[in-house]
Amino acid sequence: MSLFIQNFLLCVLTLLFVQNVLGVRVNVKKSLELGVRVNVTNSLEDNLDLTIHCKAQGQDLGVHLLHHGDHFSWYFTPSYINLYYCLFQWNDVSHYYDVFLARRDRSKLCNWYITKSGPCKVLPSGSRECHSWD
Ligand SMILES: *[C@@H]1O[C@H](CO)[C@@H](O)[C@H](O)[C@H]1NC(C)=O
Repeated sequence: MSLFIQNFLLCVLTLLFVQNVLGVRVNVKKSLELGVRVNVTNSLEDNLDLTIHCKAQGQDLGVHLLHHGDHFSWYFTPSYINLYYCLFQWNDVSHYYDVFLARRDRSKLCNWYITKSGPCKVLPSGSRECHSWD
């Protein structure tokens, strides 16, 4: 192989390598920018246990028992998912609620505190906005 061809191949390989490395960096950065965390805390009165079961299209996060004050949280990329809904249960009560709705929730953190009267969302200002179950 001539020196010219050797150098040429080395150049091409180097360029491909650099492009791959940079490409991976860009992707990681994108997913960090786009990621959303949902955090659900049991704030039920009377020290009640809360059972939650959250799902998205084609994804099941399983059933979780939360003692009072415990939280369950997950992270995802909303470009693939535009809705997460959960079933909340305590005693003989059960409610469904959409804990993430792409068209409603624009922030990177959906921080919910679950009470008997409904879920409360922490706003960027730190105050809580409470919703009723229906
Ligand atoms: C989730 O909520 C709990 C409070 O129950 C808090 O301690 C925790 O820091 C929250 N996680 C995030 C990522 O905000």
